[in-house]
Amino acid sequence: MHKVIAIYPGSFDPPTNGHLDLIERGSKIFDELVVAILRNAEKAPLFSVTERVGMLEALTSHYENVRVETFDGLTVDYAARVGASSLLRGIRALTDYEYELQMALMNRKLRPELETVFMMPAEKYSYLSSRLVREVAQLGGSVKGLVPELVEQNLRGKLDPAYQLSEFREATTSDKKKSRTRKRA
Ligand code: PNS
Repeated sequence: MHKVIAIYPGSFDPPTNGHLDLIERGSKIFDELVVAILRNAEKAPLFSVTERVGMLEALTSHYENVRVETFDGLTVDYAARVGASSLLRGIRALTDYEYELQMALMNRKLRPELETVFMMPAEKYSYLSSRLVREVAQLGGSVKGLVPELVEQNLRGKLDPAYQLSEFREATTSDKKKSRTRKRA
């Protein structure tokens, strides 16, 4: 039987729970789903391509029909190379629509046989983006529940040393307070 292969292209810097929600949905409707990380030398990413591949592989290893790859150049050409007939993209809010429509129509112009399929992640992820996750994490805010634990840990490792130091100070101060309270009790 003819297999329907889809690619899910993106930067995934870092992968969020919104991406994973979409991978889960995509894995149910396509025979094969290829999560495709764009290797873009122009951008200065927070996570290297190798790190992003590692995280996405670990996070999707329980899906038999999902694999992670990287690509360069036009998405439509990459889709042709892996024999994909669909391109999966997530739409969160109306603000995504214009950019996504432009991209989908350009891709259709370049390769009419490739169909873009839009899916909506769960509402609770509708405000979530990799850019905001990076910003919040880099400024010392919590991203718990917005990214998988593995990504959270890796983000912590990437944090500005100044924040790591202030977190360390806070932790040790509260440890000292706790031990003082314990001694008094
Ligand atoms: O997660 P992102 O950063 O929104 O993903 C954007 C991505 C990678 C899907 C898009 O930039 C892309 O397809 N780039 C590859 C180059 C290309 O094909 N450009 C023409 C798209 S209309």
